[in-house]
Amino acid sequence: MALVSMVELLGKAQKGGYAVGAFNCNNMEIVQAIIAAAEAENAPVIVQASQGAIKYAGIEYIATMTKLAAEKASIPVCLHLDHGTGFDQVMQCIRNGFSSVMIDGSKLPLEENIILTNRVLDVARATGVSVEAELGKIGGTEDDITVSEKEAMYTEPEEAKYFIDHCKVDALAIAIGTAHGQYKGTPKLDLPRLEKIAGMLDTPIVLHGSSGVPDDAIRAAIERGVCKVNIDTNIREAFMAGVKDALAANPSEIDPRKVLGPARERMTAIVREKIRLFGSSNQA
Ligand code: G3H
Ligand code: 13P
Ligand code: ZN
Repeated sequence: MALVSMVELLGKAQKGGYAVGAFNCNNMEIVQAIIAAAEAENAPVIVQASQGAIKYAGIEYIATMTKLAAEKASIPVCLHLDHGTGFDQVMQCIRNGFSSVMIDGSKLPLEENIILTNRVLDVARATGVSVEAELGKIGGTEDDITVSEKEAMYTEPEEAKYFIDHCKVDALAIAIGTAHGQYKGTPKLDLPRLEKIAGMLDTPIVLHGSSGVPDDAIRAAIERGVCKVNIDTNIREAFMAGVKDALAANPSEIDPRKVLGPARERMTAIVREKIRLFGSSNQA
């Protein structure tokens, strides 16, 4: 199948009360693991590329690998730019065949975020590419900040309504207490805030920083309107655990396939687990 945009995937998820998993890829083994897991679960899936992934592998490699995987796959696959930094990068992704982009203007003042997002929306609409925006700041777990500083970064429901009234994106990432990377403690989601935002918008909501969030909190977030859940760190952990175990079992191994093969299987297993948690199994 050719790559699909996020619009149809998230529209179905919203109606069906489940979320589509959006999994970060950085190389061939990760792309293969994500697709194998989605096929085994008969689930729609989003493969996404972060800034780090683009720097590491290059847009062309990521696009070519994922397009090939999608063509061979029995399930719908969307290729999405994660945390797009600006108009030029979005254009480059569209030229390379990405079916979806995120434009992350969350560090900009509200009106500037709206202007930038609308500029991206104009070209995306003309090319059938879907657009995710971000409002509120989703930091990293390494950011050393207090609880009140953290809450100051959360998405304001009224601002979210104003944002969507002024730019009709296909998905909105919000900040409700998650962060990128490994958590030091257990993250606590501001579910009342999510519920309020979801009640004010029709737009599918995206949860970033979802690795390490307890399963019941993920389920509660999906029940309250989250339709796309982003997972990166859990895949990295599985990859490296697979590599370490394979090397521990045979420290003198010289064939990379004997190390990366088991790592790919570990990643497939965690992605399958997440797909089941998100309720998207058998929704392809
Ligand atoms: O955006 C979230 C990603 O987990 C960050 O990944 O280190 O590949 O840019 P990166
Ligand atoms: P984690 O690495 O915390 O799973 O976050 C992924 C993410 O939000 C990518 O945009
Ligand atoms: Zn993110």
